[in-house]
Amino acid sequence: MSWRDEAKIRAASLAADHVRSGMVVGLGSGSTAAAAINIIGQRIKAGELRDIRGVPTSYHAVQEAVKAMLPLTTLDEYPELDLGIDGADQMDSGLNAIKGGGGALLREKIVASCCKQYILIVDDTKLAEVLGTNQPVYLEVHPIAVMPVTRKLEKMGARAVVRQGAGKVGPVVTDNGNTIIDASFGPIQDLNDLNMRLHGVQGVMETGLFVGYAQRAYVGTRDSVYEITR
Ligand code: A5P
Repeated sequence: MSWRDEAKIRAASLAADHVRSGMVVGLGSGSTAAAAINIIGQRIKAGELRDIRGVPTSYHAVQEAVKAMLPLTTLDEYPELDLGIDGADQMDSGLNAIKGGGGALLREKIVASCCKQYILIVDDTKLAEVLGTNQPVYLEVHPIAVMPVTRKLEKMGARAVVRQGAGKVGPVVTDNGNTIIDASFGPIQDLNDLNMRLHGVQGVMETGLFVGYAQRAYVGTRDSVYEITR
């Protein structure tokens, strides 16, 4: 196992310590969130946690939860969640993040917005002083709007690339039937302003800018893990 995988597990384990019996938990997507789902499942199996339900943020999270035998529910049944745990592609010291490297950002953000507490878990390669530094902003875009949105992003100063699938020719199709555009703006000085401007582009269904959701993060390092709170 690489040090990064170990760091992810250390961060995931501390986030899983916030899960209490009876909680409904938003389950993030990606490899770090999968580690958390796995740990929660192990604790249910060991009898340390009871009566847990998870709300998945992607088909990937569903698969991981099924593997971990973690019972699932929906936002229809639980519009407010006790806790959400998710990974990030890049995070700053204010716990703002860029997410969507796995193409799951729309459901991730809906779930994040429904959580009373939201915890990000990352390894320390994901930290950046200024978000957007060597990191695209991922956008979920309606398929009919890909070309106009691309042009508008370029006019806004971004380099915009339509993400291509692996194991399938053509573009990535998200869990919601949309397309992903990776838009590189460079270091982003005003996250809320960019987020608002991106939401003003018709066809952008959601942005990977997660601003102000997390109150807490666990950061795994080569040989340790630490907490950041806001
Ligand atoms: C999924 O679309 C993303 O938002 C993930 O949370 C992000 O890509 C982090 O994934 P890893 O934990 O696999 O790095």
